[in-house]
Amino acid sequence: MPKFLTINKPILAYKRNLIVEGDKSLSIRWALISAMAKGKSKARNILRSEDVFCTLNCLKQLGVKIKLKKDFCEIDSNGIDKFDYRKNLILNSGNSGTLGRLIPALLVKSPIKIKIIGDKSLSKRDFSRIIEPLKRFGVNFYPKFKKNLPILVKGSKSLKPVNYIERKGSAQCKSSVMFASLSANGTTKIKAKKSRDHTEILFKYLGVPIKLRKKKSFDLIDIKGPKKLNTLNYNIPSDISSAAFFLALTALSKNSQLTIKKVNINPRRSGIIIILKKMGVKILLKNKKIYKGEKVADIFIKGCNSLKAIDCPISLNTSAIDEFLIIFLVAAKSKGISYFKNLSELNQKESPRLKLGSKILNMMGIKTILTKDSIKIYGQPNLKLNKNYEIKNFLKDHRIFMMSVIAALSFGGNWKIYDPDSINTSFPSFIKKIINLGGKIN
Ligand code: S3P
Repeated sequence: MPKFLTINKPILAYKRNLIVEGDKSLSIRWALISAMAKGKSKARNILRSEDVFCTLNCLKQLGVKIKLKKDFCEIDSNGIDKFDYRKNLILNSGNSGTLGRLIPALLVKSPIKIKIIGDKSLSKRDFSRIIEPLKRFGVNFYPKFKKNLPILVKGSKSLKPVNYIERKGSAQCKSSVMFASLSANGTTKIKAKKSRDHTEILFKYLGVPIKLRKKKSFDLIDIKGPKKLNTLNYNIPSDISSAAFFLALTALSKNSQLTIKKVNINPRRSGIIIILKKMGVKILLKNKKIYKGEKVADIFIKGCNSLKAIDCPISLNTSAIDEFLIIFLVAAKSKGISYFKNLSELNQKESPRLKLGSKILNMMGIKTILTKDSIKIYGQPNLKLNKNYEIKNFLKDHRIFMMSVIAALSFGGNWKIYDPDSINTSFPSFIKKIINLGGKIN
């Protein structure tokens, strides 16, 4: 791909159907679970993006057999007890926080040290959040006290269950502990601030002895180990975090209408739908179904010409955590001052998104008040841009890139947006889909 793209024209109104790619969280979880299980598992509609390819490569390195065909992906594994632990093994997590933080939980029995590395962005991110709880199971990390990648992981012959309190609302931390609990002798007890619950849903479906109690602001999860996982055939629904960019594009485009098909609308993921509705956008869910515990539906959305500012309830933060950048763009065109708070986790993502999101809005002439965990956005309902805008040096964060494309197509101006290949981590067909809708991109 070229070094940058330019966009000089807003998109014209459209009325269309759209299918976005498979869900990233579910694709990675399916692959990791299938590798832990003994036997063959098959997935359809697995996301073919770099984060998922990194996952499959790490598993291959552990001796797991993987066939990636046109219509499906098959994993054939001897199970977690028979991974091929070769000396000097290096597992590359690339850009993926989910892979980087979950793969150590599959190495809990490794008799030797395995190195985990990641790209520049991932190597800046906090890993103490999973190192600390995994250490308590008996897992070893080297060098001692290191908090980020690269790190070495060595397992243990006898793993003790833990009591763990997850306070950040991080599904990666919760899932890492849940995966490790399957190898521990006894019951692991987790008290977790509410976050996406794909791992819980998959464990239930697979018959793992899991006890779930949902309280108002947290969940109690007990898992009795040791437990060997069964193989998993899975049809991966579309990713709401990819759909989100098209939801925002449509919300911002007066006369447009879009139906996005078969999207995973797990309530712990679909905060963006509630937030956009509160901002005045018309959204309908059609053909609702439950697939192996996950909610799936077609999302119908209509462009809106009277967007309202939002004082976003913090109870929606985790269910829209990957969507805030794009929600900020909608706030930029809304009447009034929008307020998003308790969002320090947003600066812990592939890039410091709260800071960079605010910076992009400022470039667009939108006033913001930024603190280390909140942002106020002074919306301009008549926002129209006509200057030059350059988006560069954002740690190749895929979502910063896609947010910038949506801004250019919605508000006008002459945009030069660097690092288009960043989309390969989560949504490789993003540009193609924009062009199909009529977006003019050079
Ligand atoms: C994910 C959890 C979230 C999310 C990430 C995917 C997952 O991260 O931002 O894109 O698949 O579990 P945190 O666990 O850090 O909140």
